[in-house]
Amino acid sequence: MKPKVYAAMTISKEVENFLSEHCELRMWREGGRVPDEVLFEEISNVEGLYTSGSASSQIDEALLERAPHLKVVSNVSVGYNNFDIEALRKRNVIGTHTPHVLNETVADLAFGLILSTARRIVELDRFVKDGKWLSTTEYSDTFGQDVHKRTLGIIGMGRIGEAIAKRARFGFDMDILYHNRSRKPEAEAHYDAQYCELDVLLSKADFVLLMTPLTPQTYQLMGKEQFKLMKKSAIFINVSRGQTIDEQALIEALETGEIYGAGLDVFEQEPIDPSNPLLQMSTVVTVPHIGSATAKTEAAMAMRAAENLVAVLTGKDPLDPVYK
Ligand code: DGY
Repeated sequence: MKPKVYAAMTISKEVENFLSEHCELRMWREGGRVPDEVLFEEISNVEGLYTSGSASSQIDEALLERAPHLKVVSNVSVGYNNFDIEALRKRNVIGTHTPHVLNETVADLAFGLILSTARRIVELDRFVKDGKWLSTTEYSDTFGQDVHKRTLGIIGMGRIGEAIAKRARFGFDMDILYHNRSRKPEAEAHYDAQYCELDVLLSKADFVLLMTPLTPQTYQLMGKEQFKLMKKSAIFINVSRGQTIDEQALIEALETGEIYGAGLDVFEQEPIDPSNPLLQMSTVVTVPHIGSATAKTEAAMAMRAAENLVAVLTGKDPLDPVYK
């Protein structure tokens, strides 16, 4: 008998076919986040759960106790802050995620945010389209900041951080500072990246880019004090998770001119509340958590998550476990 699996999201035909070859598959087809009452009902007899941070609620004790046969939870994302690792460990449930396949795609987006905030691309696109481009002489109103040859501070030098450093060093001739739990000798050798304490990075960087996973240690890593340390001309980029910063502190730093601007892929609340002051600021560029959102990369992540799930359910080691 094939193991039962619930996918808390709609999946492509290709992934559906692959999963169905190995599992008895049921799926949430309505779009959006699966309601808890549906999820709890569906997982009561499954061995595998296919999900992501935005597809279903937290994978915690309350959920796991409703899924007594569960062996594996496979996340379609590299971040797995939706997992309570201790709860999974206690119940011998394997958690998996999808690293590697999205590194370059997320790095592209991070760079897009750097460029669009520094050169005011979104704001000036609106300016042109609103018919405000009436004179070619008063163009100092359109001045932005250079990106090339400036200093990029990367907080969280993991695989994606390194992909960003590569672009910055070789594409834009930037100096790289980084702060990380541990030193990265290879990044230092390849990209001439210089390790420094967080305070030093914040005070020296022209662009501060947050790329750290969300953990209890990184929760609100950037707060009032940290934004104060940044240069007034500096731009803050967040491609990690909304909760790694104190969003109110960021709003105040922008409102009071403590920093110049921000490029944000992630927010405290997602989807963001339309009344959030960040949405009214011309120096802030916002995108709806699309770090990995290209068709090719999303397909690769979806298949990798399916392979992780099937590996465990067919008695093999998962490809990408979140804990050992
Ligand atoms: C992930 O996969 O965790 C990222 O948020 C992609 O954008």
